[in-house]
Amino acid sequence: MSPIPKTAPFAEEEIDLLNRVVGPATPVQRAWLAGFLAGYDAAQGGAVTAQPAAPARQAEPLTIVYASESGNSEKLAGDMAKSARKLGLKPTIIDMADLDLAVLAKAKRLVVIAATWGEGEPPGRAARVYHELMGQGAPRLDGVEFGVLALGDTAYAEFCAIGRKIDERLEALGGKRVVDRIDCDLDFAEPAGKWIGGALKALAPADAGRGRVIEVDFSHKPSAAPSTDIVEAEIIEHTNLNSSRSDKETIHLALRFDGATPPYEPGASLDLYAENDPAYVDELLKLAGLSGDERLRDEFITSRDVTTLSLKTLETYVEKTGHQYVKALIANGEAKDWIAGRQLIDLIAHFPIALDADKLHALTRPLAPRAYSIASSRREFEDEAHLLVSAVRYETHGRARKGVASNYVAERLKKGARVRVQLKPNRHFALPPPDQDIVMVGPGTGVAPFRAFVQERRAMEAKGRSWLFFGDRSFTHDFLYQLDWQDALKDGALTRMDVAFSRDTPQKVYVQHKMLERRRDLIEWLDSGAYFYVCGDAKAMAKDVRATLVRAYADVKQLAPEAAEQAVAGLEREKRYLQDVY
Ligand SMILES: Cc1cc2nc3c(=O)[nH]c(=O)nc-3n(C[C@H](O)[C@H](O)[C@H](O)COP(=O)(O)OP(=O)(O)OC[C@H]3O[C@@H](n4cnc5c(N)ncnc54)[C@H](O)[C@@H]3O)c2cc1C
Ligand SMILES: Cc1cc2nc3c(=O)[nH]c(=O)nc-3n(C[C@H](O)[C@H](O)[C@H](O)COP(=O)(O)O)c2cc1C
Repeated sequence: MSPIPKTAPFAEEEIDLLNRVVGPATPVQRAWLAGFLAGYDAAQGGAVTAQPAAPARQAEPLTIVYASESGNSEKLAGDMAKSARKLGLKPTIIDMADLDLAVLAKAKRLVVIAATWGEGEPPGRAARVYHELMGQGAPRLDGVEFGVLALGDTAYAEFCAIGRKIDERLEALGGKRVVDRIDCDLDFAEPAGKWIGGALKALAPADAGRGRVIEVDFSHKPSAAPSTDIVEAEIIEHTNLNSSRSDKETIHLALRFDGATPPYEPGASLDLYAENDPAYVDELLKLAGLSGDERLRDEFITSRDVTTLSLKTLETYVEKTGHQYVKALIANGEAKDWIAGRQLIDLIAHFPIALDADKLHALTRPLAPRAYSIASSRREFEDEAHLLVSAVRYETHGRARKGVASNYVAERLKKGARVRVQLKPNRHFALPPPDQDIVMVGPGTGVAPFRAFVQERRAMEAKGRSWLFFGDRSFTHDFLYQLDWQDALKDGALTRMDVAFSRDTPQKVYVQHKMLERRRDLIEWLDSGAYFYVCGDAKAMAKDVRATLVRAYADVKQLAPEAAEQAVAGLEREKRYLQDVY
């Protein structure tokens, strides 16, 4: 019999893990462990009321479902589970990508933590199950107590749309909302933490915390978890990979770390902490009549989001200034259209009114870092990480705009400068075992993680074949990492490469056109077990690539459209269709 009962306040996999250690342990080892844990908890402040041998109260189940792309919802689900255990609940965490809807109907208590992506869409992995939940076949959820935590970004018109829709759907299916939904912006840590506390109180059985529950502090990181602290690095290379005649600027950035290199794996990205353009901040302050305020200027440059304009910003503007025209804009439903393509500076320029530092500050939010895929492998560049950053520049409403972080990198970060970054692991975009084939579709900066993949597989002497589809505007001016690919094709780290340069021919050619041309080989690779990776633009490219793969299946295997769709859905279910799109 296993020594740790299923009723112990741990997750099932943790109970298994503990049983594997404690089960075969000798009496001496067990005695040592008991003494060690008692001493450990005393040293931590002694918050433990352990009464191991007595019959434990049956822990009440809590189902936590998360729908995540970049890991924030997943992390919150983990945090919530830890707190839930302390209350004597028995949480089960499920990625929506792996959710069987029948499980929801059986759940007694349910929390859904869901991010919104694209333009109001579910995270890619979760999309299939999300649409099932919204569809006719979804099960009734009568009696299921639920709460929803939505993650989003007020900069998007469809703020927290997916969390909102899930919340409405759970109620429509008969669920009982026991805690109101919260819609969190990018600075979600504090509000989400508070909501989790409140939700657990509402969901926990009345006697929770009073029973014979062992409180365990899970807050320390397991030693095997990669360090995800913010660290400093020096820029040791800063090179524009486009030619001087290109209308694009894509910077290859090599970072060298002061201390230990964050233990990144291929597929991970780095969050980069950028600063705002001082010229933009100066213009903003001038328009607001606050030019002399050096303290505000410094804060705006280093740590506030001074470009985003959202419905929330307009509402705050009305609240702080009482501006009648802005109030009318909101009231007559025109605000959303007016915001499109505009920034905070446009609001101040169009609707001027007396402002002080506090009022202007209230219109801003903390400046969020931007993610960049890591384009190198630690097996080849031990103490470095490489990034590939495309400068975002465009014009709207008669004003030239510059993306905050990409232009900080392109225009103001020079060789020798220092930058703060934070590792964002992505276990959903990892390499398969080295003997498996891989197909990589990465136009533009989407190619960045595949440089890491190829380096890693070269270093590991991987036996699997690898095939890259790359595209950009022009062969001569925009062939990012051209020499790397040529070398990789020569030394065998890359088996095959197809390129699509959209502006070199009268008719635009994109990676998906190349995929369709090569459909027979592509399906042969997938049939023999290849993993299919897509990285880069989420708006058009990723959708076109998926649709093209469906077409390729239909054509090569002579399948009806639904069967071809099922073939691609099958790859997704098997986790052989992996994407990291933005
Ligand atoms: C997991 C992940 C990995 C990523 N990897 C990379 C990478 O390897 N390389 C890379 O370059 N980027 C990558 N990105 C994107 C990157 O994080 C930033 O979003 C990008 O650099 C823009 O940031 P910014 O601060 O320069 O622009 P921001 O100041 O954030 O401005 C961008 C915003 O400007 C608006 N905008 C942009 N273009 C237009 C236009 N033409 N018309 C109207 N409005 C427009 C949009 O609202 C857009 O959201 C990645 C993103 C994610 C989530
Ligand atoms: C490319 C992209 C598109 C996004 N689209 C939306 C959106 O339409 N609405 C929204 O509220 N948030 C949007 N977000 C913000 C995310 O929901 C937010 O970053 C969230 O914290 C991500 O959670 P996750 O890490 O669990 O995926 C978007 C973010 C990115 C990078």
